[in-house]
Amino acid sequence: MTPTADVRILDERTPEERDRPFLPAMARSWLLPLYDIFTRVSGVGALHERAVELANILPGQAVVDVGCGTGNLSFAVLAARPDARVTGLDPDMDALHRAARKALRRGVSLTLVQGYADRIPAENASLDHVVSSLALHHVDDDGRVAFAHDALRALRPGGKVTVVDFGSPAPDVEDAHQPTHGHGAAHALRHLPRLVRSRVARTPAVARSLGDGIVALLVAAGFPDAREVEHVDHRFGRVTFVQATRP
Ligand SMILES: C[S@@+](CC[C@H](N)C(=O)[O-])C[C@H]1O[C@@H](n2cnc3c(N)ncnc32)[C@H](O)[C@@H]1O
Repeated sequence: MTPTADVRILDERTPEERDRPFLPAMARSWLLPLYDIFTRVSGVGALHERAVELANILPGQAVVDVGCGTGNLSFAVLAARPDARVTGLDPDMDALHRAARKALRRGVSLTLVQGYADRIPAENASLDHVVSSLALHHVDDDGRVAFAHDALRALRPGGKVTVVDFGSPAPDVEDAHQPTHGHGAAHALRHLPRLVRSRVARTPAVARSLGDGIVALLVAAGFPDAREVEHVDHRFGRVTFVQATRP
């Protein structure tokens, strides 16, 4: 650990938020220990690295990672910009503890806040970047609208939102409904990505991000230049990179 590494976890939930439900990373809390393995084998790290490249974070800038989970996007930010001031926000304290242990092992400074996407832990106009990866589809409709408005409040003029999540048309939804023929473990493994794609695309939470859901959300909140800057046909579904600038 570097002598200056500073890792802290803050609980910024209001009393009313203490019993508020949320959708955890793997849909079930007890599956969290598998999350990092699952994302490693499924190539999610490349999505994080691309999001960080697109965000183009400058030295010393202030970044909040919304729905940070076990911290992987935050660590991608810190790998590219070790002096960025990064805060991860997530309602899941178990995930935040995992992120904190990883930060300590890596010797990087990271502030972790227990809270929800609709209240970004930052003063008005104080952030350079709001980033988020595979988290918005976990947030309900009201929470997503509130997230977009709060991002506008927390970013300085010229500050940027960079979101990577499932989105845009899901061309494989119908394909994923086609039956697969065959039996056995090898068959199941071969078709696992398609089965996961099918599950992902049919999840109500993901469905609300399809089409131009994230772009429309940001435009409505007051980010007129919100747009998809790139997309990837990931093996678990179509993933969109959306960016917007605070006017
Ligand atoms: C699939 S994980 C993504 C984690 C991480 N961003 C990554 O890319 O590996 C989704 C995360 O969203 C979090 N989440 C669920 N509801 C949320 C909310 N209302 N506000 C913020 N985060 C939320 C979950 O706890 C979970 O950690």
